[in-house]
Amino acid sequence: MKRYGVIGYPIGHSLSPWIHGQFLNMAHMNGEYHKIEIAPENFATEISRLLAGDMNGFNVTVPHKQRIIPFLDKLDDNATAIGAVNTVAYQDGKWIGYNTDGIGFVRSLEKSFPDFIGDPNKKVLILGAGGAARGIYAALLSSGIKQLDVANRTKERAVAIASIPIRHEKISKNVLSLDEAETNAGSYDLIIQTTSVGMVPNEQEQLLSLHNLAPKTIVADIVYQPVKTKFYGRPKKRGTDLAGTPYAFVPSAICV
Ligand code: ATR
Repeated sequence: MKRYGVIGYPIGHSLSPWIHGQFLNMAHMNGEYHKIEIAPENFATEISRLLAGDMNGFNVTVPHKQRIIPFLDKLDDNATAIGAVNTVAYQDGKWIGYNTDGIGFVRSLEKSFPDFIGDPNKKVLILGAGGAARGIYAALLSSGIKQLDVANRTKERAVAIASIPIRHEKISKNVLSLDEAETNAGSYDLIIQTTSVGMVPNEQEQLLSLHNLAPKTIVADIVYQPVKTKFYGRPKKRGTDLAGTPYAFVPSAICV
């Protein structure tokens, strides 16, 4: 019997046990998958206990994707470049960290909008600068996006993302405040909300308003509980939802 789970805080909203249960069935594996709530203030103690236990692997969600790193034995090259981990596996006696958030998002985007990534004129804005944002940022650059801006409450974290060394050719990158992002929302082809703002139980919260959005703009919120966060606003007036976005991270689960 394999033992898996997801760590985060809060974790009550997570659909990961259901999602990974499907994967276990599809892979004909005998396993279990649990939600494990770890508050940031107890992280060192709780994660040390978990790593000393008998789990085979686990996913990492908000707000631990960067905090987990010093506790692991090794990161793969992708997670090292991104500086965040969403998947941890116990392999050959070592805890190895991976990041599949970004590729999961890019696959969802490609599925719904096959020509988007290959178009050099597409301009993308990422809202937030935590672990999830880092993964998505790196994957979008790796897959060919050439204009990629980041807006965050804490500007230094957005600056840190913009300096992740992914490609050496010329990329247009700007760092914005959330106010600037709201004002300039109309100039983007894709806006991705990567913070936990608006997630249950705080569904009334909204990172910023999309009242300046252009009709062509695709909007994606990586929060999937609720499926339609307040961020989207009223769909008829607010551009196009990225179909399948609530499940954008499903592929990220496969590695466990
Ligand atoms: P994760 O690594 O899982 O993405 P995180 O590192 O805690 O989680 O990042 C959460 C993101 O949500 C950050 O961009 C954070 O902004 P700060 O860098 O300023 O902390 C953003 N965030 C969380 N709560 C927020 C709020 N109430 N308003 C604006 N941004 C918020």
